[in-house]
Amino acid sequence: MTTYNPMRELPATAGYRKGDVLVLCGELFGRGYANGIVDEAKSRGMTVIGATVGRRANDGKLRPLTAEELTEAEAILGGRIINVPLEAGFDLEQDDDGRSPADQLKRMKPEDWDRVHLDWGAIEQSRRNGAARFTSAIAAFATEVEKLIPAGANVLFVHTMAGGIPRIRLYMPLMNRVFKGQGERYLSSEAFWNSELGKLCRLNFDAVTADTFACLLEATAAVRSRVSAAEGVVRYAAYGYHGCEVLINGAYTWQSYTPYLPGWAKIRLEEAAAAARAQGIMATVFNCPEIQTNSSALFLGVEISLYPLLSALEREGNGPPAEAIRAECAALLREGVTLDGLVAKANDYLSSPVMARFSRYEEWPHHNTPEQAELMLTRATELLDMNRSPKEIVCAVLSRAVFTAVGKLMLNGSWNPSSPVCWLNHDVIAKRLVTD
Ligand SMILES: NC(=O)c1ccc[n+]([C@@H]2O[C@H](COP(=O)([O-])OP(=O)(O)OC[C@H]3O[C@@H](n4cnc5c(N)ncnc54)[C@H](O)[C@@H]3O)[C@@H](O)[C@H]2O)c1
Repeated sequence: MTTYNPMRELPATAGYRKGDVLVLCGELFGRGYANGIVDEAKSRGMTVIGATVGRRANDGKLRPLTAEELTEAEAILGGRIINVPLEAGFDLEQDDDGRSPADQLKRMKPEDWDRVHLDWGAIEQSRRNGAARFTSAIAAFATEVEKLIPAGANVLFVHTMAGGIPRIRLYMPLMNRVFKGQGERYLSSEAFWNSELGKLCRLNFDAVTADTFACLLEATAAVRSRVSAAEGVVRYAAYGYHGCEVLINGAYTWQSYTPYLPGWAKIRLEEAAAAARAQGIMATVFNCPEIQTNSSALFLGVEISLYPLLSALEREGNGPPAEAIRAECAALLREGVTLDGLVAKANDYLSSPVMARFSRYEEWPHHNTPEQAELMLTRATELLDMNRSPKEIVCAVLSRAVFTAVGKLMLNGSWNPSSPVCWLNHDVIAKRLVTD
């Protein structure tokens, strides 16, 4: 278990200069964590180089972006994208006989989820083929990156890749029951996780969320040698999740979203950073707060722990930037609803006796229970209903504030990191936001 190591003070300003390079390993979407660090890097005059996961053609084959897609993606990024498809995972990967895990599961029905038996020999072949494909794609990516780094520049690789729910029709109704089901629709995450479908999911999470980071470190050895020969530095930063301290009953308290099934892969990611650090490679996993993004949309309730950020902003000094965030949030609430009312409701959930058994860091990741799922999902919906419109919500404002602050903390924190894994909790995020 990784030693719990929160960043308590704002890090010193990093030495990245104009002309240094940020390489984003993962595709950039409109409202994800990576936007924060990309904007911060640009504001310092750094050059941004991006990646793509590629696209699946109609025949199922992985392909690079078309010229039109590339132009659009580069406009969103504000930088050049190396057009090598970096999709990871093996859910659609053929085994040595041309059959993928998806093919194996094509005729299975969701109601038979706990009776599904997979051909694990074939799955292992697909896993190996997928890993080989990704390894050669990231090597090609690294070769292109190397050509674009000016002599003497410093380089920061930022890993954002996470995911891996097998893209197989059977999974979606099950995932919806695990993450959003209550009452009759409730499905125990532990029972699912221990099933063969759960095992396939776990292997694919590892491949996408963790092993891609280890591959990146390995593939960029030549970049490290070249940059350090020219007196530059290379740093690696990755986004992790391992719970987060937020204000509960007035005290910063570690809590986490349940059931976070990618959690085991996130621990593996932390281990990859620790192993790299032991070899002198400056890689750091920054464990970040729960926010709403494309990737977290499935985890209804993950956003409840965002609301206490409003109190953390007051605790850490308030001032005009904090007031501006609070005012923007307040303007989105229904008539008669106040920010204090919103925070009180979230606090009521976070401090509920039902949540007590999920408070132990050493036992993370936790599995769901019917009571916990019901409480979390009911509260999440009630809190979302406190917004005037479901399209413009307080969580979006708070998520943007968090990813902006995290971008600054990560960029600076990556320069001279004291340990391979650190937590960015609401205290240091709010400190960062109030000093803007
Ligand atoms: N949203 C949260 O609450 C939260 C909390 C802590 C950490 N994080 C982490 O932040 C990082 C960015 O996530 P985000 O929430 O901003 O969402 P996002 O959807 O913007 O980013 C997800 C990234 O994963 C990549 N990806 C997805 N499937 C992939 C695959 N099969 N192969 C290769 N790449 C793939 C996408 O291209 C994208 O770059 C992730 O590592 C995530 O786990 C998110």
